[in-house]
This record gives sequence, C-alpha cells and structure tokens, in this order.
Amino acid sequence: MNGENDSEKSRETGGVHEFWADPTSWQFSRVSGKLPAMRSIMVTGAAGFIGSNFVRLLVNRREAVKLLALDKLTYAGNLANIGDLLKSHPEQLAFARADICDAGEIERLWELHKITEVVHFAAESHVDRSILGSGPFVQTNVVGTQVLLDVAKANKVQKFLQVSTDEVYGTLPEDKPEEKFTEETPLQPNSPYSASKAAGDCLVRSYFHTFGLPVLTTRCSNNYGPYHFPEKLIPLFVTNLMEGKKVPLYGDGMNIRDWLYVEDHCEAIWTVLNKGRFGEVYNIGGNNEITNRKITETLIREMGRKWDDSVQYVKDRPGHDRRYAIDAGKIKRELGWEPKHRFDEAIKTTIQWYRDHQDWWRNIKSGEYLKYYQQQYAGR
Ligand code: NAD
Ligand code: TYD
Repeated sequence: MNGENDSEKSRETGGVHEFWADPTSWQFSRVSGKLPAMRSIMVTGAAGFIGSNFVRLLVNRREAVKLLALDKLTYAGNLANIGDLLKSHPEQLAFARADICDAGEIERLWELHKITEVVHFAAESHVDRSILGSGPFVQTNVVGTQVLLDVAKANKVQKFLQVSTDEVYGTLPEDKPEEKFTEETPLQPNSPYSASKAAGDCLVRSYFHTFGLPVLTTRCSNNYGPYHFPEKLIPLFVTNLMEGKKVPLYGDGMNIRDWLYVEDHCEAIWTVLNKGRFGEVYNIGGNNEITNRKITETLIREMGRKWDDSVQYVKDRPGHDRRYAIDAGKIKRELGWEPKHRFDEAIKTTIQWYRDHQDWWRNIKSGEYLKYYQQQYAGR
C-alpha cells in the first residue's frame, strides 16, 4: 500500500475516533450498531513529567480510552506521579514497567492490552546529562523509537504519535525576534539530546514514507508545571529556593526559552492525536519568550527572596542554544488548538504545587540525585 492510500484510510480512522470521543455520537453509534472497538493507547514514559500529566488529563476527563502506562522507571520516572490514578481507575489505566528497547516485552504487552495507538513520550530528556554522556540518549531516543515503530508496524498500529521538541531545530538569533521555528525549519540539533530526538523524528518520518505507518509528530517548546523533575530550570530553582539554597544561573542568564504550561501541551497532543493529519509535524508553543534571568527574577519575587542572596552565576553550558521560539500557527489554523494558561498565573499554581508536595521532591533530591548535582555544578 502506498503512503497516499494509507493516508486516506487513516483519515477515516481519525473520524471514527472523534466520533467515539463524543458522548452524543456514541449514543447514536450504539443505536445504529456501529460501536467502534475501544481505543487502547500505549503511553510510553507515562511515569515522567509530561507523560504523567497526559494520563492524568485523560483519566480526569473520562475520555473513552484505555491506557497502558509504560515506563522503565529510570531516575526520571516515578510511579508516584500516577499512583493515585492507578488505584482510582484500575479499569481504565494499567501500568507496566518495561524498556522500549525490549522488543519482546513491548510485543507481549501490545498483545495483552490489545493496543491500537501509541503516544510516545519515553526519552532521556535532560540536555546537561546528554553532555555528561550521550549513550543512554542514543539507546532510548533512537533505538527505543525504532523498536517501538517496528512493533507498531507489525501490529498495524492505528496511530503513532511521536512527542518531540523544538530543540531539534537548533537555535535562533536573539536580534531577530520575528524569526521563529516553523515546521519547515531545517533540523539542526546542537546537543546530544536534541540530536537523538531529531534522529528519532527522522525514523518516524521514514516509517510513514516507506511503510505508510500512520504517524504524527509534535514538537513543543519548554514545559513547566507539576511533577517536573527538579533537574530542569524551573523545578530546580523553585526547590532550591525553598531549601534556602542558591540557584545556578548559566552564562549571562540571557538565553531565551518559550514557556508553555504542561496541561496546554497535553491538550495539544490529544488534539493532534484525534484530528492531526498523518505524516505531518505540528509545532506547539506558548508564544511566551522569556530570558532565564527574567524567570529567575519572577521565582525569587514569588518566593519572597532577594537576588543577591539567591543567585550564583555559573560557567555556561557547552553549546548552549541561545533562543527558542515556536510559530504555533499551523496547529491553531488546522486543529484549533491554542494555549489556555497565562504564564503569570500558571507559574504561581506551579510554585504552590511544589509547596504542597514537598515529600515528592525532597525524596527525589536525595541519594543518586545528590551525586548528579555535585557532578553537574561543583566547581563551575
Ligand atoms: P522525563 O524525563 O520527565 O520523562 C521521561 C520518562 O521516560 C521517564 O518516566 C523515564 O523513566 C521514561 N523512560 C526513559 N527511558 C525509557 C525507556 N528506555 N523505556 C521506557 N521508559 C523510559 O521527560 P519529559 O519532560 O516528561 O519529556 C517527555 C517527552 O517530551 C520527551 O520525549 C521529551 O523529549 C519531550 N519534550 C519535553 C519537553 C519539556 O519541556 N520537558 C518539551 C518538549 C518535548
Ligand atoms: P532546561 O530546563 O534544562 O531546559 P532546556 O535546556 O532543554 O531548554 O534549561 C532551561 C534554560 O535554563 C536553559 O537555557 C539552561 C538554563 N539553566 C540554567 O541557567 N541553570 C540550570 O541549572 C539549568 C538546569 C538550566
């Protein structure tokens, strides 16, 4: 079957799914005897930051889907992120500890849970760790993605959504604010992390063109919100400030990121999964460019601290991308998605979440984490 025919077929499948998600149509489809089979989605990396927020959104909204939360539980994966949901919704949500590189195990779980779709979050996700060692990044983000694609192909997956990042596009100049990443921007990854994500994206693209696999790719800007592992800028700085420690600001602090509340990202992924055109890439962003220095000022103010007592400028990250900014026009025009949360409000909600969940992050910031922190920041 060529890519074009497959694309047609998949658009039909997309229609059925939208139909199924609408309770009014569901009634109708029952009456007419055309009840589609239950969607069963494998969510890889579901115990991580964004994956767990995605599962939470779907379960809380009672979306008519079954979910298999699959995660290897690396240092970044935490079953506590979805523990309450596993208890409260056992009929809808199951968990499997598995490595996406393990083809036999993925195949077994696929059959057991009668998987129809994949939303692929699982990744090594931290740029600084990819500078310390790129091996795990190539293994999970490239080989793991290839393994998933092969199992998905063998089992005739109905939809495969690759969750990717704006970092695959490289960096933007700060003196040309009108320039933003579009879906046509060439891939120019600069860190081992972004290079491994770009390689994964290229494999996904190739399975569409070569095999007609019904794939979708999203590329999002920096997220913030609950359950964010405290090695990334916002949760690291918020928790350091709560601990009375200083925050390590890289270089001149003037690097720019485009910040998006995690729930908005999850909504965008759900929108693309349901309405997106196969083979297409959708950029997702907050239209919210902020320098690291400004983020730091905001956090310090919100936490009632003073700049001079709180900030430690440290040696810059090697190869540090200067500016990321997303043009999210395509997803708005074609699928009607746009962010709902404003940064000034959602950052307060986020800080409050870390105040209310001290056990969660204090548990993480111990043991192995302290060794990493020492290795990353000592003498910088
Ligand atoms: P995260 O590091 O918090 O979570 C990643 C999860 O994947 C963890 O639970 C980990 O245990 C799991 N995992 C890692 N290797 C695995 C393997 N081999 N098999 C199974 N599970 C494995 O990352 P995140 O911030 O939630 O990011 C999720 C996805 O979104 C990633 O693909 C990332 O590239 C992408 N993304 C993240 C951001 C962001 O700002 N955090 C922005 C855009 C895109
Ligand atoms: P990060 O949260 O690691 O996301 P990414 O590098 O994927 O964009 O970093 C966000 C920005 O914050 C980035 O410009 C690097 C900077 N940063 C610091 O200044 N200090 C830190 O300790 C960290 C982790 C990041």
